[in-house]
Amino acid sequence: MSQNNILILMSGSIACYKVCTLISKLVQNNFNVKVVMSTSAQKFVGTTTIEGLSQNPVHTDTFEPGQAMEHIHLARWAHLILVAPATANTINKMKQGVGDDLISTLFLAHDFTKPFLIAPAMNTKMYLHPATQNSITELKKMGVEILEAASGVLACGEVGYGRLLEPELLYKEIVQRLPESNSPAVANAQKKTTRKSLKVLITSGGTQEPIDDVRFISNSSTGKTAATLADQFVSAGFDVSYLCAESAARPVLCCTTHTFVTYKDLDQALEAQLKNNYDVIVHAAAVSDYSVSQPQGGKISSDAESLEIQLRKNPKIINKIKQLSPKSVLVGFKLTSKNSDAEIKEKVNKLFTQAQCDYVVHNDWSRVHTHHHTFNLYTEHSVKNDLSLFDLSFDLSDAFLRKENL
Ligand SMILES: Cc1cc2nc3c(=O)[nH]c(=O)nc-3n(C[C@H](O)[C@H](O)[C@H](O)COP(=O)(O)O)c2cc1C
Repeated sequence: MSQNNILILMSGSIACYKVCTLISKLVQNNFNVKVVMSTSAQKFVGTTTIEGLSQNPVHTDTFEPGQAMEHIHLARWAHLILVAPATANTINKMKQGVGDDLISTLFLAHDFTKPFLIAPAMNTKMYLHPATQNSITELKKMGVEILEAASGVLACGEVGYGRLLEPELLYKEIVQRLPESNSPAVANAQKKTTRKSLKVLITSGGTQEPIDDVRFISNSSTGKTAATLADQFVSAGFDVSYLCAESAARPVLCCTTHTFVTYKDLDQALEAQLKNNYDVIVHAAAVSDYSVSQPQGGKISSDAESLEIQLRKNPKIINKIKQLSPKSVLVGFKLTSKNSDAEIKEKVNKLFTQAQCDYVVHNDWSRVHTHHHTFNLYTEHSVKNDLSLFDLSFDLSDAFLRKENL
């Protein structure tokens, strides 16, 4: 018997647009998809879009004329049911056993003989609210699987829990939960999703160059951008390693972490990591261009009226990444301050010519600590300007996945 009927229950979250991508991917891979939308979900995307993508009529009403038994038929028809996006309201209603619309009634008609998944999507405060957390715990006890909301940049601008998993990851979760079967759609999809996920290395934070035992020269890098990218890539299903300064921000979602302090540490750690055949290297660390020529042992006395510290130039670490790992996709970062457009272009170009970057992310210091901290994403022949961190991570994930599929 074929095992490829997927029932998607959409409730009213801004993340409805992501589920459009999921539905499209399922249909492209020969799954039969039927969709139920809550009244609120229809305010975010239209039933026409969902009907077009799923190639099936959309169900919205328990009392639709001629469809009165759909809450039983649809539950029976499906081999797997996924609530995505799942709002706080829908999750809390399901836990209570309320059946006042088609989605909640379908849950009451579910007999737990097949997978029932919930993918929450909401603001962090709604997600962490005791009512929602309590419902999630109780639903798990009933046998529902919760596809934990990822940390990342939310539509409301906050960073935290509550973000819907990326469509690619939702797709993998669905496929992995379907029973072994003779269905070519499932067999094909399982073959594709069990292949190894993309291995990504992200460097993060700033190096510290010692002057003496207690003083050092460093820079203002916090590692927040890299940590957010790491979370986004983990939630997109990538296998992420994070090589960061000891003081750098850490991703919330788990990934393998290694640390460095000085330029030399980073240089050595990166060289060791590059033996691991990463598919993608995102070099976001802010590396000291100079180190102190002769750091002093002990603590330099504070009595002297003036001090001279000699610095020596460090070779650019990024320039050797492609030499040591030629098959990796390389993303370089360039922070500028008070440069003309022509100067910025020249600095970005250097990363393509000297480091052989595949992508360069440029941002300007004047915007770093503002609400309008945006990024420009360059390839050798194109640029996308003014991307939010969320858009940047989405564009990069998308580009990596397209390369993976080639
Ligand atoms: C712009 C906007 C975005 C919203 N996004 C979410 C969301 O992501 N998650 C959520 O739980 N509620 C969200 N809501 C609130 C829900 O739409 C609201 O609680 C609604 O009653 C949910 O109904 P449903 O669960 O039947 O779909 C949003 C509301 C608006 C106006």
